Amino acid sequence: MIIYFTGTGNSRDVAVRLSSILGDNDIIELCGDAIRNKELKAKQPCKAVVWVFPVYSWGVPPVVVKFIKEVKLSGAGAASHHMVATCGDDAGLTANQWRRLISLRNWTPASASTVIMPNTYTLMKGFDVDPEDVALEKLEASKERVADIARRIRAAAVDDDVVKGRFAWFKSRIIYPWFKRFAMSPKPFHATDSCTGCGLCARSCPLGNISVNDSRRPCWGNDCALCLRCYHICPAAAVQYGKSTRGKGRYLNNR
Ligand SMILES: Cc1cc2nc3c(=O)[nH]c(=O)nc-3n(C[C@H](O)[C@H](O)[C@H](O)COP(=O)(O)O)c2cc1C
Ligand code: SF4
Ligand code: SF4
Repeated sequence: MIIYFTGTGNSRDVAVRLSSILGDNDIIELCGDAIRNKELKAKQPCKAVVWVFPVYSWGVPPVVVKFIKEVKLSGAGAASHHMVATCGDDAGLTANQWRRLISLRNWTPASASTVIMPNTYTLMKGFDVDPEDVALEKLEASKERVADIARRIRAAAVDDDVVKGRFAWFKSRIIYPWFKRFAMSPKPFHATDSCTGCGLCARSCPLGNISVNDSRRPCWGNDCALCLRCYHICPAAAVQYGKSTRGKGRYLNNR
């Protein structure tokens, strides 16, 4: 069973490739009702539950944390759990956090792996999407990496194979809690005058957090994962986050 959360498609891409290599067609996206219902049932008794998600500020995205804590998971009682986290550069101590979360549910954490993918975070000074050649190189390198992770899962590996990066403790233990508290507000999201009112951002939000008002302008609610799908998907590049996304690039993985 493969459970994935994605904003811009990198984690879906990895999850779909794992599903194909492992021959596991029980693949579920965490969005909409799947998140709201907090209930998942494996299609067939499974040996492995694979959690695929992006790294957010050197930790597990809060939306995934909440889901792991609350989900009623049936048909996977005897399964080992594996983490496959996608990140632009490095994951800090994301694997440690994920292992704690899985253990708190009395499930068995097995392997934890990272896949470097094109960066999607653009909301702070100094952060932007990768230049196209860098993004393409990362996508190319991810092919062998995902195949390798599939081999690890098949072999029931129980170790970490993660890119932690420098200052991992500081990033995960100090910056991650700060980021969660002060840098995840959806309030700065707005649409500029180039918005055409197409509604794609609203239809695409994995949490259904965007509505379109009578003037056909998107309005953001408070239930936001900060996945940035609305920002990256807008065909008119009209979605901005305060002033911090001005002039920044956009990226979507539609593979
Ligand atoms: C809110 C947010 C925080 C992020 N934090 C990190 C990070 O700490 N380290 C990193 O290497 N990449 C970080 N990224 C980049 C993503 O983890 C990476 O691009 C990932 O592959 C995106 O996956 P997705 O397309 O499935 O959403 C962040 C992206 C977002 C949106
Ligand atoms: S996707 Fe862009 S153009 Fe379409 S409604 Fe949303 S902000 Fe406006
Ligand atoms: S509002 Fe935008 S950033 Fe927030 S969850 Fe929806 S698509 Fe993601």
